[in-house]
Amino acid sequence: MALRKIREIGDEVLTKRCKEVPKMSLRTKLLINDMLDTMYQAAGVGLAAPQVGVLKRIAVIDVGDGPIVLINPEIIETDGEQTGEEGCLSVPGKYGIVTRPNYVKVKTLTEDMEETVIEGEELFARALCHEIAHLDGKLYIELAQDGLHDVEDEKE
Ligand code: NI
Repeated sequence: MALRKIREIGDEVLTKRCKEVPKMSLRTKLLINDMLDTMYQAAGVGLAAPQVGVLKRIAVIDVGDGPIVLINPEIIETDGEQTGEEGCLSVPGKYGIVTRPNYVKVKTLTEDMEETVIEGEELFARALCHEIAHLDGKLYIELAQDGLHDVEDEKE
């Protein structure tokens, strides 16, 4: 298991547009494995490559149904709306209220570089939108309706 340092808000790498992955390499496989380890260690439901300082269009998600690896993902369809709490491992201790589509369809490559289509609803749809936005250098905070709240406040 290899953990990578999670970059936090204020780090420029989180604001940059990532490059497409042209082919699978050992280096990229190791990156994906490290991203999964890092996400699970931090108890997150998703992690995008720029969050570990790598400007490649790769993200991992696990909303409780097992790991999903996205390579060069693209949202091709959305439907409905959901409004709820959203947080990010790069913005520790905070959350915001964000409206996202309730359903998304994503075209992506698998770890074997095979094209596939993934559909998600509710939390999975939210995670897909959130992680894909990271690949364009966007954080959820831009979408937070009434700013950021401390996770602590929620518990009071
Ligand atoms: Ni995030």
